[in-house]
Amino acid sequence: MTVDAQAILDRCDTLAGESSTAEGIERVYLSPEHSAVNRLAAGWMSEVGLETWTDAAGNQRGRLEGSTPGLPALLLGSHLDTVPNAGRFDGILGVMLAIAVVDRVRASGRTLPFALEVLAFGDEEGTRFGTALLGSRAVAGTWDDAWWTLADASETTLREAFVAFGLDPERVGEAAHPAGAAIGYLEAHIEQGPYLEEADRALAVVSSIAGARRFAMALTGEAGHAGGVPFHRRHDALAGASEVVLAVERLARDAGCIATVGRLQAFPGGVNVIPGRVEFSLDLRGETDAARDAVFSGILAVAADTCERRGLAFAVEETHNAPAVVADAALQRAVRAGIRATWDAEPMTLFSKAGHDAMALAESVPWAMLFVRNGRGGISHHPDETVTVEDVATALDAFEAAVLAVAETYPA
Ligand code: GLV
Ligand code: MN
Ligand code: MN
Repeated sequence: MTVDAQAILDRCDTLAGESSTAEGIERVYLSPEHSAVNRLAAGWMSEVGLETWTDAAGNQRGRLEGSTPGLPALLLGSHLDTVPNAGRFDGILGVMLAIAVVDRVRASGRTLPFALEVLAFGDEEGTRFGTALLGSRAVAGTWDDAWWTLADASETTLREAFVAFGLDPERVGEAAHPAGAAIGYLEAHIEQGPYLEEADRALAVVSSIAGARRFAMALTGEAGHAGGVPFHRRHDALAGASEVVLAVERLARDAGCIATVGRLQAFPGGVNVIPGRVEFSLDLRGETDAARDAVFSGILAVAADTCERRGLAFAVEETHNAPAVVADAALQRAVRAGIRATWDAEPMTLFSKAGHDAMALAESVPWAMLFVRNGRGGISHHPDETVTVEDVATALDAFEAAVLAVAETYPA
């Protein structure tokens, strides 16, 4: 019997048990939980005939040869890391679907004109080091040595985390796909938005992914006595940061972009102390890089003005930058053919405002994505993420049919 939709959901449940927190799910790059899910995924990969290895960046991978050994591979993947207090399907569902597709192909006795490779990326979210897509960027060959000194909340650097995970930082380049070794990348992922549910559809093909930039920002003023310092003498960093946060929302909304301040911390953090310093994050996305960057310029202008008026100092550091990417036309056609092979004759097309490993892979291979409806208004990055077993079954049929559609036209 092949891995079916219920087995996929059971595996998502099993992976949800690997968390660094007792309540909820949190699983970050190069953590003990990352090791644990790699081991689980490797076991499931082996069961379906994939030859497995952990690559030089900590991604779990598996390969099934095509009609002859050593052919270029069609890559199928997504990520196993999570945001804090995550749901159980973001990324994970795509990896489990990929393994199940390989199982179906193998069980059918078909040989494909390319190899299949499943990639379970170790860092898509950027939860630990602020910079996202580290796993997929290593595979795309776009690793940046400037990242080695990035530190997590406990001041462990990326380099130290590599070593603790048993990886050799000097060999990270070995995770990259040699030129010509991959013919394309297909990723299945929950939608993380409400559009499929609103349209009463199970699946969609993704046309493009928003360009995203992330920043670490800080306003520095002067701490002081909450009773003793009159307003006209204050340099309250939190009051200043509040002006900037509200401008972030206003400017992004006015420009049709999307922006979020998801983390903000005031120092020293006493109830009776004027905040002397505030550190906060900014996540900014747009359908075009130009629109997104114009919003960022506006935010910088507001921050400069606020600091001038309030006697504060402003610092900003970019922690992530991924340009907007457009899916490959031929692979989109294959995904559409896959969806048509189910009950949906008129596949829906969606633009993704959420980021995905495909953004990193886009720099080295053609890509396309299959979105799967998640329930409850598309809630995601939240413990209430849901998918139905029926939709997972439909997604599995479509993903398999998409792979076969790629085979039919290969080499184009
Ligand atoms: C990933 O989930 C992102 O879009 O931030
Ligand atoms: Mn996510
Ligand atoms: Mn994801």
